[in-house]
Amino acid sequence: MLGRLNHVAIAVPDLAAAMRLYRETLGADVSAPQALPEHGVTVVFVDLPNTRIELLEPLGADSPIAGFLARQPDGGIHHICCEVEDIRAARDRLVKDGARVLGDGEPKIGAHGHPVVFLHPKDFCGTLIELEEVPA
Ligand code: CO
Repeated sequence: MLGRLNHVAIAVPDLAAAMRLYRETLGADVSAPQALPEHGVTVVFVDLPNTRIELLEPLGADSPIAGFLARQPDGGIHHICCEVEDIRAARDRLVKDGARVLGDGEPKIGAHGHPVVFLHPKDFCGTLIELEEVPA
């Protein structure tokens, strides 16, 4: 069911500082910031030869990453994202096996314009997993 690693997401308290770090200190290609109000985050993507890193900064009063940054003020790895071919089929199979999908369980459009769902970290070794539908 799981396809390629699409990205690893890192929550950061200061996106401009994180962009400088990745661009200047680490010498990577960093995209322009993209505000995603419906997800409560501003994101940039760091393009690597084999995958991407997503840097996330809270956006708005009730950002879903605010609590994470309260516990880890320096930032940290927030989730991994793997590709699936059919997100509803993947979700239905996981729910049937007892896994919990966050929110109302319906896919939302993510940062790349593709449908995404998030799986409960307690069901997956303490790791928040994002599934993104990327047609083969
Ligand atoms: Co993501």
